[in-house]
Amino acid sequence: MSTPVPPLDDLHALLPDTVRRVVERETPIPTIAERAKALAAAHPELVRADIGQIAGVDASIEVLYGPPVGLEPLRAALAETWSRVFGGSGEISSPIGARNVTVCSGAAEGLSLLFRCFGSGRVVGLPRGHWENYLNGVDLAGGRSVIVEFFDARGALDAEGLARRIREEKIAALVANFPCNPTGAVLDHEEAARLAAVARDTGVVIIADEVYARLRYDGVAPVSLVAHAPGHAVAIGSASKEYLLPGARVGYVVSARAQLTDIVLRRLVRANTASPNVLGQQRLLDLLQRDLVDLRAGRDAALLGRVRDEMRRRRDALVTVLARHGMEPVGRAHRKPEGTIFLMASVPAWFRGSDEDFAKTALERCIVSVIPGAAFGLPGAVRLSYGTMTPPDCERLDTNLTRLQASIVTEPSPAAS
Ligand SMILES: Cc1ncc(COP(=O)(O)O)c(C=O)c1O
Repeated sequence: MSTPVPPLDDLHALLPDTVRRVVERETPIPTIAERAKALAAAHPELVRADIGQIAGVDASIEVLYGPPVGLEPLRAALAETWSRVFGGSGEISSPIGARNVTVCSGAAEGLSLLFRCFGSGRVVGLPRGHWENYLNGVDLAGGRSVIVEFFDARGALDAEGLARRIREEKIAALVANFPCNPTGAVLDHEEAARLAAVARDTGVVIIADEVYARLRYDGVAPVSLVAHAPGHAVAIGSASKEYLLPGARVGYVVSARAQLTDIVLRRLVRANTASPNVLGQQRLLDLLQRDLVDLRAGRDAALLGRVRDEMRRRRDALVTVLARHGMEPVGRAHRKPEGTIFLMASVPAWFRGSDEDFAKTALERCIVSVIPGAAFGLPGAVRLSYGTMTPPDCERLDTNLTRLQASIVTEPSPAAS
């Protein structure tokens, strides 16, 4: 029996008509601009009359459009960083190149374009306990979301159950988000290999949201599903979390198949936003170049290491305070939250109300602002972010929860307040 062609190796068959039309449409403006730019470098007499931007009035304030797929030095730096961090694991032994990276306007744009490529008119599997914006992305792409379980009741990866559900529900694209917002769950390399096998067996495309990939605290090397399933998985990264630049609006898509990143997404980004934020890209490039000095020397990247170690301290402090108040981490059963800047904690037994009641009461009484788990498909728990929670904040949380508990025990129904 012949092995089926991995989906990312047959994009023509995979992409919906709408996307194919955008990708295949003749677009004279960028084609001529590219040719003119190359010619002008060698022939200064060429007068450029193709450019849709104003220049030559005050060069000191100009920020010109960049290429739809991102500045070339940034693509190259992202490819090298990715190869040094994730390459050498799984099935990818040689480094990926700049053509395997598309820079976009935040991971949000990358996700939305990938939902249009792989989820339009199809079924998209979202993990139980997922970033709620995936639902919007799937809806906007004209897809249908279904919730899937990655783990069994003991917290083990349930590869068979997942494969069964993919077949039963005819899931075409599966979102995997490890480390996971909201639970902080991570995958190790062996589990990533098992997930890759599920993709190979079922033919599903994995949209791997890896914006927190390097923010993991268990000492395990970061995992990318692209390294384990290059024909099935496409990854999304971001400057927003690991590089502290959410306002820069720079994200990126990584695929082992350059046809997706260099051709298809080039056309889609141009159609969607023209190009990602050039100033933000320059900021990220500066930080990446510093990190690459460390990575090339075989050291932990200094900035990344600082962010990661601080987040680990904040997670530990938060887990300790919450435990003192009867709020245990929930998510992947029996595991500590090992990554991201989030954790889900159970609503304490002394509260006697739902996660939504707890979130409302805690906010109105100025205790703590949390997101009810119902928003993520995880009722009975609330999500806390420790991304902004300094040690004094954590101490204040301790005091505030003591205050809340003391007031609650004297009231008959906290939910009614
Ligand atoms: C899991 C996940 N994916 C994607 C994003 C969006 O990131 P960006 O700021 O790069 O658009 C977020 C932001 O909170 C997130 O938590």
